[in-house]
Amino acid sequence: MHDLALLPSPSPTAATPPGPLPVDVWTAERVRDLVSHRRGRGSLLVVSNREPYVHQHHGDVIRWMRPASGLVTAVEPIMRAVGGTWVAHGSGSADRKVVDPYGRVMVPPDDPRYALRRVWLTEEEERGYYYGFANETLWPLCHVVYVRPTFRSRDWAHYQSVNAHFCRAVAEEAPLKATVWVHDYHLALLPAMLKAARPDLTVAHFWHIPWPSSEVFRICPWRREILEGLLANDVLGFHIRYHCDNFLDTVSRELEVNIDRENSAVTYGGHTTLVRPFPISVDAAAIEAEAHSEAVAREMVRLREQYGLVGDKIVVGLDRFDYTKGIPERLMAVDRLLTLSPEWRERLLFVQAGVPSRSRIPAYRSEWRRIERLVRRINQRHGRHGWAPIVLLPEQLSRTAILALYRIADCLMVSSLHDGMNLVAKEYVAARIDGDGALVLSQFTGAAREFPEAFLVNPYDLDGTAERLGAAITMPEPQRRGRMTRLRERVLEWNIYRWAGEMLGTVLRLPDPEVIS
Ligand code: F6P
Repeated sequence: MHDLALLPSPSPTAATPPGPLPVDVWTAERVRDLVSHRRGRGSLLVVSNREPYVHQHHGDVIRWMRPASGLVTAVEPIMRAVGGTWVAHGSGSADRKVVDPYGRVMVPPDDPRYALRRVWLTEEEERGYYYGFANETLWPLCHVVYVRPTFRSRDWAHYQSVNAHFCRAVAEEAPLKATVWVHDYHLALLPAMLKAARPDLTVAHFWHIPWPSSEVFRICPWRREILEGLLANDVLGFHIRYHCDNFLDTVSRELEVNIDRENSAVTYGGHTTLVRPFPISVDAAAIEAEAHSEAVAREMVRLREQYGLVGDKIVVGLDRFDYTKGIPERLMAVDRLLTLSPEWRERLLFVQAGVPSRSRIPAYRSEWRRIERLVRRINQRHGRHGWAPIVLLPEQLSRTAILALYRIADCLMVSSLHDGMNLVAKEYVAARIDGDGALVLSQFTGAAREFPEAFLVNPYDLDGTAERLGAAITMPEPQRRGRMTRLRERVLEWNIYRWAGEMLGTVLRLPDPEVIS
């Protein structure tokens, strides 16, 4: 989500890709061998706020599901391959019902491979730490999208105490000299807490969202504590070099650090942290294999029939509904295209799908209302003869339906105003097994650095975005296919296992921490 991939994790039995893989392709097995060779099976702990499996009450029965989360989509296949323990917030209504006395349950529930250790939070803690400090402070602070961050001391207090809960849970779970892989902006204080509690651990952290410039970050009243928390890591990863550079500039302005630019390393208080880019990705081979399935073909027919997805060109947007995704800007660009090139009326259909997110936060609720208003207005302006240009898909889509939608889309539009990576773009490319399709991609995503063959846009420039969208849907087939071929080569080679292999490889090459007893 990176940010976000909307595909829930595949089932463990997902088919393997057709045909042999090139020699240098990273696979689940290769990552597993790397970790077990260096540290032994079971010695990897992943820590994140979002849990990979949620158990919910549905009347008298308990069902489990995988949340729509880029982080989960990315990390879950790695844990399935490597084993170990994943420590995360237990957020499901039936989560407590299925765990042992230590808060543990083996997952995936239908094919247990690793332990999930749940951390319990009160309503108040969740409000202050997750909705408050993580998502009303750090999220807007790190994404430069002009939503003003809120700084509340009580949220900060919850953020500190919840990071301490996570620290206790990890310290209980971690074998001696284990490697702890922390994820995201919810847990910035955890590395320093862990190193204080358990100096034998090696700690790495992947930050799934952008890191802003030092000018932006300096408004945070607790910037020093956050930076000190992160500088306790042995390795700190961002999606792209630009975010690493922003981080290095930030620490050099705020703290007495030594920066070794050549090795991208920061030394603070005698401890050195490697700060490196690791561009996150998707399990492209698994997506490719599933996109071939009969179920996806049937789902394409259902979606077309049920929602009238017919037209010369179907353009799709698919997001977690978040104000960073530039959904209003995308709708306005479609509106502009239909105004400037009315010949597209009754021929172009724009389909917006997605999942609601963080809807307790006012900025998310008003974003959703804005989207609904815009869709109504644009459909009134351009609709005729029972035809309307924009369809808001009302249902929460299954993995199969998402793959079907990717395959239906002549063009996918990703117009984030700021995005660490954006895995929806990568999923779309992986799912285009026919080698066709076009990707309109915001230049403010991490993915734009890897995908020069996409139709890159500045979503703030409506005329420019409308013009690029027009170019994407009118490009002659041979050129369009040529671009898609190069995008697909890239995503198949730079897959999720490469991301994990390169980051974990960097961590596992480090000497064990010196523990003074
Ligand atoms: O993109 C950042 C991120 O935290 C991802 O890691 C995650 O998948 C996504 O946002 C969803 O957020 P949440 O866990 O709050 O639903």
